[in-house]
Amino acid sequence: MSDEKKKEVIKHFLQEGILINPAILEKINNIPEFDTFYSNFQKLIHEGVRITNDTVLSVIDEITPTPQWNPDPQVKDAKVQVKWSYKADSSKWSMQDFINYFSNRYHKLKKILMKRKELSSPSSIGQIRFKGDREEVAAIGLIIDKQLTKNGNLIFTLEDPTGTIKVLISKNNSQLFAIAKDSQLDECVGVTGQVGDKIIFANNFFLPDIPIYKELVKTPDPAHAIFISDVHVGSNMFLHDAWNKFIRWLRAETGSEAQRNVVKKIRYLIFAGDLVEGVGIYPNQENDLEIKDIYKQYEKIAQYLAMIPDYITIIICPGNHDAMRIAEPQPELYEDYAKPVLDLPNVVSVSNPGMVNIHAHDGHPGLDILLYHGYSYVFLADQVETIRNLGGQERIDLVMKYCLQRRHLAPTHNSTQYLPTREDHLVIDTIPDIFVSGHIHRVGSVNYRNISMVQAGCWLETTEFQEKLGLKPQPGRVPLMNLQTRQVKVLKFL
Ligand SMILES: [Fe+2]
Repeated sequence: MSDEKKKEVIKHFLQEGILINPAILEKINNIPEFDTFYSNFQKLIHEGVRITNDTVLSVIDEITPTPQWNPDPQVKDAKVQVKWSYKADSSKWSMQDFINYFSNRYHKLKKILMKRKELSSPSSIGQIRFKGDREEVAAIGLIIDKQLTKNGNLIFTLEDPTGTIKVLISKNNSQLFAIAKDSQLDECVGVTGQVGDKIIFANNFFLPDIPIYKELVKTPDPAHAIFISDVHVGSNMFLHDAWNKFIRWLRAETGSEAQRNVVKKIRYLIFAGDLVEGVGIYPNQENDLEIKDIYKQYEKIAQYLAMIPDYITIIICPGNHDAMRIAEPQPELYEDYAKPVLDLPNVVSVSNPGMVNIHAHDGHPGLDILLYHGYSYVFLADQVETIRNLGGQERIDLVMKYCLQRRHLAPTHNSTQYLPTREDHLVIDTIPDIFVSGHIHRVGSVNYRNISMVQAGCWLETTEFQEKLGLKPQPGRVPLMNLQTRQVKVLKFL
């Protein structure tokens, strides 16, 4: 290869005002077919394409033969079964759909609450009105009103299909009061207590919650899963270098031998939405876009995902920046826009929310993963007093736990935009082993009753605006889970 041609490539970068990335320089040095690379590179310049580190990487990839992947043979192959994914129906919505939607939420959550012995035979609210004074009752209903009395007690109004009733929770019962005061409108709860004059004096307050005996499911072999979210390709805040470093690491091209050995155990990459930055998401967004065409944004993310070893199955749900309806449940990524991604042989696409089962081999049930992008979390982090006081958006683990306890991904009506589908698909009826979200751009993993609640980070630079708002994104970090131990490590690429 001629040094002169190489110098010319580097000179071209300088002319474009781009500082060449050392890793790419190393790649350019190692290209076996430099002449082919050089002529493809020249062709792009003649076509007027703006040359960036990324363009060079794709030219290198085009001429590099498909690598022979070398996965760890101790780990079984990826196996994914989609357990639930919402398919959009094109009905026209009417007022009755909203009524059916809340009625469906009530019935699903009532069934969960009735598994508790105290609530196993609840009275309907219509019946309670005819009960004698001080009679013990159990009731289940949706919270339609919540007030704090002058004396500092809580009064809820619960509704079921037969009527409404007030429930008083005394501030003197501090344990009960602490749980109840965080509850928001539209949540489905259970109470037991004594009947007074058209009121229940509660002596217990129940959330649907996760049973304490939920088992911690582990795989027999040391398979690993990695979690990402909010890549936002197309934004001019996209962190190219950190992302490229991540991809090279996934390809086992960097890191120590021990690190490469871990990489070769990864069989699943879970992607919790916002693949691209999108267009027209907010006013004047075009000024913040590096790729202004939505189709090209999806082509770009598809090119990146195509670089990931094919023994890793990529499971994707959409987010609010993806090119589709924002109302939840969001269907699977639209073929019209995201075709290049959906065409990849190792991609599994599900709705938001969506549920998959992974790694069920030889009679082992595998693990259930609930993917939810996380649109409702901003509202909940701000509205739920205890969470707000403990750090708000910096404590998304508490928001995720809040949702699990309510067995609903957007427990209160205002927390997300939704369509009144016949069934309330945001109810968490199947208990997952792993619950993964993005949207808040934070990273980490915390366990709640043997469910790993994973926050999958982001790949965007932090803006001054975010700093002013007091938000603290954690870009360029990735949670890696060993499914045999359920241990999570957060790796930094920035
Ligand atoms: Fe988002």
